Amino acid sequence: MSRPEITAIALLAVIGSGCFEQVDRQWFSQMKEQPAIQALEPRSPALEEGLWTPTSELGDGPLVGPWVPPENTVPAGGITPRIRPDNPMAANPMHSPEARALRNPIAPTPASLARGEKLYGVHCAVCHASDGMASPVEAPVAGRLAAAGAPPFPLASVPAYEDGMLYTKIRYGKPMMPAYPQISSDDRWHIVNYLRVLFPRS
Ligand code: HEC
Repeated sequence: MSRPEITAIALLAVIGSGCFEQVDRQWFSQMKEQPAIQALEPRSPALEEGLWTPTSELGDGPLVGPWVPPENTVPAGGITPRIRPDNPMAANPMHSPEARALRNPIAPTPASLARGEKLYGVHCAVCHASDGMASPVEAPVAGRLAAAGAPPFPLASVPAYEDGMLYTKIRYGKPMMPAYPQISSDDRWHIVNYLRVLFPRS
């Protein structure tokens, strides 16, 4: 065999092996065809396929809300529990006496309010809208939550809450709202100060 022939055969072998994936489906399952589950997808189809089981945290209500990962998988970054069961606030963080007793150490100076407004825009407006009234057009995730059965949530109840309760709500979230441990303590207070501008206490 001449040299160009050997090169041609070697090339064909290399190119041909790339097609293997196209014909081997009936023999092997392929990683790229595994089930993909998006965070706010409605859950029922996967439930029927047995891909997940409801957790007690979410109760027996309608099948909506954040996904629990399929069994035996760990999301990138690992699972952080929102609040440890032995934390005295665990039963109802926002309404616990510990939350009510927290005192806001940061005065609502113009700098604090500006910082709070910025952070609110980054973290909260996507669900609660920039005016806090969760208008679906302005708050795209609120629209998706509504489609999944959780109505958009206006923050009109804010005046009734103590600063520490709002702070705790941001820290631990609720089943339908994410927790924000990554927002620093000071920044949580800045957001609380800004919430008072959106919804002043009477
Ligand atoms: C992914 C959507 C989402 C994001 C982002 C979000 N929230 Fe919420 N929030 C909700 C939902 C849904 C509720 C109503 C149900 C509940 O309390 O869990 C809610 C409720 C609230 C309440 C009212 C609690 C009550 O019990 O009356 C406050 C206050 C609040 N959010 C503040 C915030 C702040 C501040 C941020 C930003 C740091 C934020 N939320 C980000 C979805 C979200």
